[in-house]
Amino acid sequence: MQTIAVDLGLSSYPIHIGTGWDGILISECARININKALIVADTNTGPLYGRMVQDLIASGDIAARLVSVPAGEGAKNLDTVAGLYAAALESGLDRESAFIALGGGVTGDLTGFAASTYMRGVKFIQMPTTLLAQVDSSVGGKTGVDFAGMKNIVGTFYQPASVIINTDTLKTLPERQVLSGLAEIIKYGIIADESFLKFLEANINSIVALDSQALVHAIGRSCSIKAEIVSKDERDQGIRAVLNFGHTVGHAIEALGGMSAYTHGEAVAIGMVAEANIALLLGLIDSSLADRIRDLLRRAGLPVRLPDFSNESLVRLMQHDKKTTGSRFVFALPKGPGQACIYKDVKPEIISVALDMARQA
Ligand code: GLY
Repeated sequence: MQTIAVDLGLSSYPIHIGTGWDGILISECARININKALIVADTNTGPLYGRMVQDLIASGDIAARLVSVPAGEGAKNLDTVAGLYAAALESGLDRESAFIALGGGVTGDLTGFAASTYMRGVKFIQMPTTLLAQVDSSVGGKTGVDFAGMKNIVGTFYQPASVIINTDTLKTLPERQVLSGLAEIIKYGIIADESFLKFLEANINSIVALDSQALVHAIGRSCSIKAEIVSKDERDQGIRAVLNFGHTVGHAIEALGGMSAYTHGEAVAIGMVAEANIALLLGLIDSSLADRIRDLLRRAGLPVRLPDFSNESLVRLMQHDKKTTGSRFVFALPKGPGQACIYKDVKPEIISVALDMARQA
């Protein structure tokens, strides 16, 4: 078991990473001192783990109700949240109670939003079960729901009291979903820690094969890098944007694929190749780093070649990126192995050449 501290003053919390949940879940419920719990699973995780988690919490003399929301982005809305408020009220949850998210990013985001608003905020525990949620969305306190066709347009910053990661849950995850999280792990090595990048280059096969020791290290280092960045910029007003490396192009690819042709990680992998080309064209990195990035992603089993979407359609979508102001394209880019920067005002012509290069990858 590895424990990482997210250092946010009074809102600090631990992230526990290991195999199994048993001892740590009971001791965390006792430490956080909760009187009742609402466990929110989805239609995938409920049948797999719901009863086990409910029984574990009940063994600490805490009444726990299990509710299930439909799996997938379609459930990430205010109606689902209203259902959680109703269940919490019915079960008599109060300010000493906890909402527990048992699932992937959608479950975590909407349960966190409900926890941050029910009675103006109750205790919240994240039990992420996908690799993407374990290394990204469960850490850092972003909560939210989709509204009027826009992703995460309604939300809060609300830190959990604890994040409990059980790598055994990855054994039941489809391989494409595991790879989707792996793209974010590789991103952390590129933007923040060259020795971690080297570890990934040496151990990528063991991670893909879900070797527990390699996974616990890779998830732990990813969470500690994210924790360090979040502790410098909790509200995402500056340096936290480096976490967006690969995402400006990646989000455009996801959108052009109708949000279903590519997983988030697949789109971000191609996005990282394209954005590394931007860094290369701007003289921030040399071609050996751009090659390392592409080769590692390819060895992980992720796509690296930009599909046949036109540059115009990709650039149009990038204009909607939250970092873009007017016609100034802002990118999070590598500036050396394990280092990143926010580069303001990348010219559209550079983006176009970088996209053309990514079609040859
Ligand atoms: N997923 C990016 C962030 O949490 O800021």
